[in-house]
Amino acid sequence: MPSTGDGGRMTHVRLYHEAPGAPPSPAPRGVVLVADDEHENRAMFARLLAIDGYEVQTAADGPSALAAIERHRPDVILLDVQMPGVDGFEVCRRIKLNPATRLTPVVMVTGLNERQNRIKGINAGADDFIVKPFDTEELRARVRSLIKLKRYTDDLESAESVIMSLAQTVEARDAYTEGHCKRLAAYATALGEALHLSDEDLAALYRGGYLHDVGKIGIPDALLLKPSTLTAAEFDLIKQHTVIGERLCGNLRSLGRVRSIVRHHHERCDGSGYPDGLRGDNLPLLAQIVGIVDVYDAVTTTRPYRAAGPPERGYQELLADVAAGARRADLVETFISLGRAGRLAKRAEAIPGDGTVPAAALRLA
Ligand SMILES: [Fe+2]
Repeated sequence: MPSTGDGGRMTHVRLYHEAPGAPPSPAPRGVVLVADDEHENRAMFARLLAIDGYEVQTAADGPSALAAIERHRPDVILLDVQMPGVDGFEVCRRIKLNPATRLTPVVMVTGLNERQNRIKGINAGADDFIVKPFDTEELRARVRSLIKLKRYTDDLESAESVIMSLAQTVEARDAYTEGHCKRLAAYATALGEALHLSDEDLAALYRGGYLHDVGKIGIPDALLLKPSTLTAAEFDLIKQHTVIGERLCGNLRSLGRVRSIVRHHHERCDGSGYPDGLRGDNLPLLAQIVGIVDVYDAVTTTRPYRAAGPPERGYQELLADVAAGARRADLVETFISLGRAGRLAKRAEAIPGDGTVPAAALRLA
């Protein structure tokens, strides 16, 4: 029978006894973290969950629970409400604020008739509740279904990370565009924040910065890297990167807002852009933002056919677009004031270049 070995604050419960020469233990069905300040409760949960073959981690207080989550990335977390240090509500809030753990199901363990605690738990983002004293079969069934749910979200996250890797492969094909995706993610979120957009929109701008040109994976190198002027037919092919990219984003719900950025980042308000020639308000705001920062980055970085221009040249190009009716004046003016205040460069330095979406990166100003 597993033991919670209560010597330390955070304990790994062994479920499989490995005799010398015995075949390797089967992989656990999932990792469950039990955070409870009472030893008896931890031992009881561990015994129950061991029946279904889960690896159980335990923690006796809030800080240990947060450390265990960081280290073991559990599939389901059972959280007692009252714990010393950081209580269960605060642990839950932090789990749900962290992009790396926000999709991990959290079950809060409360006493009977603790209506206030349930409300606080819901506000903290808890996914489910177990009321003490609880039915053991019910607990096992709930954990089983939450583990299944976690597997689905894991699959979706890996699908998204494959697309992110594709975007970085596209960037790596062209030495001149090194760092382009990261800068676009940085500039677009800086502009989005200055416009007071929601966290969801900022996350979409961040991903859109990385993914906007993912469709270039379907364009031949000879065309993409051609140093001389493109023929009209060649340019038509290049334009297809917007359509290919949108298709690559597929039906992933997490990329719902990003898909229109990928398709429409080359549209212009006067209808002269591509692929759909959208006009005015028909042009999605997030795509307009990525379009603006894309033009700025192209002008201010070195290309095969010319050297990098200073920021002021980037601003002038954008203002010329405004004068021609191709871009919204308010968006461009806000962007320029951010640049002149040094906030674009600051944001680009502060975010990681690996395509992950750090919570802090969305609000740095
Ligand atoms: Fe593009």
